[in-house]
Amino acid sequence: MAPPVLLERPFPSRRFPGLLLAALVLRLSFSDQCNAPERLPFARPTNLTDASEFPVGTHLKYECRPGYHGRPFSIICLKNSVWTSAKDKCTRKSCRNPKDPVNGMVHVIKDIQFGSQINYSCNEGYRLIGSSSATCIISGNTVIWDNETPICEICQPPPDVLHGERTQKDKDNFWPGQAVFYSCEPGYDLRGAASLHCTPQGDWSPAAPRCEVKSCDDFLGQLLNGHVLFPLNLQLGAKVDFVCDEGFRLKGSSASYCVLAGMESLWNSSVPVCEQIFCPSPPVIPNGRHTGKPLEVFPFGKAVTYTCDPHPDRGMTFNLIGESTIRCTSDPQGNGIWSSPAPRCGILG
Ligand SMILES: *[C@@H]1O[C@H](CO)[C@@H](O)[C@H](O)[C@H]1NC(C)=O
Ligand SMILES: *[C@@H]1O[C@H](CO)[C@@H](O)[C@H](O)[C@H]1NC(C)=O
Ligand SMILES: *[C@@H]1O[C@H](CO)[C@@H](O)[C@H](O)[C@H]1NC(C)=O
Repeated sequence: MAPPVLLERPFPSRRFPGLLLAALVLRLSFSDQCNAPERLPFARPTNLTDASEFPVGTHLKYECRPGYHGRPFSIICLKNSVWTSAKDKCTRKSCRNPKDPVNGMVHVIKDIQFGSQINYSCNEGYRLIGSSSATCIISGNTVIWDNETPICEICQPPPDVLHGERTQKDKDNFWPGQAVFYSCEPGYDLRGAASLHCTPQGDWSPAAPRCEVKSCDDFLGQLLNGHVLFPLNLQLGAKVDFVCDEGFRLKGSSASYCVLAGMESLWNSSVPVCEQIFCPSPPVIPNGRHTGKPLEVFPFGKAVTYTCDPHPDRGMTFNLIGESTIRCTSDPQGNGIWSSPAPRCGILG
């Protein structure tokens, strides 16, 4: 790799025309001359000239460019029309000896001189933080590495989990393969992996878990002759309601709550039952009858109709006073009652 050099105008024209002559040591052999010397990547001329030919014996002074060191020197036009060699007059400056990062290595690829690059690597299990290479560059009149020594890092402490705890809270550094274990506060369930380990890449795997408010199991109970009203979620505090169909009476709790019992979340009451509502036998009335049969039961909704007995032989007619049809219904407590009192059979005026 060619070392970088600073661009500059080597011979600004006509700046100091007088200096040119001063650089010459005159010889009498006018036929022997040197052409203008080639530009040197490591040194620059200190005697400025725009001449294209120089007599034999001319001394041209040079100084080393930034990034190189060496004493000022001259090149001389020789009799055979070539300049004396400037080779090795300037040597590349060296950057300071690079240090190995802790838990890593520096790789000197060629050398540590101006323009050279070095690489850094970390030992297995460590992550490189910073730049993995550096180049020796000019700074002022010296040379420095353009990047700092990187840091080879192991795993940072793993993430914290809201409503959760983990082991090894007091450690700052973790080695590849080490593990931490998470748990959740009471009332929270762990979702995800309960343990994470530090990977050779310097991070934690798998992803951190979450602590979610505990939930009760799906409510599996079914309510015969009724239905269960579910809330949006089954988390702690959730309430399910039980409602019986019409004609049925709820026996048990009308709701169950998701509550914390020790470390478990449980429904605090079991499913009730829906009992069918029955009315007592319809009242018996004098001089009349109803459509109910002996031993018949009267469930909610059942209707009976009363009629009055005819007594034509006695020349009397009974008339029904009140509702002729009554229906089995229920009071707010779920007891079976008839929709109205039984009618009477009486003689009209
Ligand atoms: C060449 O340059 C140097 C420094 O710039 C100066 O001291 C010296 O006199 C010059 N020489 C000639 C021959 O002009
Ligand atoms: C040094 O690192 C550079 C990039 O960071 C890479 O291209 C190059 O191959 C490396 N050289 C060596 C010898 O490792
Ligand atoms: C269930 O929990 C609720 C709310 O905490 C409470 O009001 C109710 O009495 C509990 N029921 C039983 C059967 O414990």
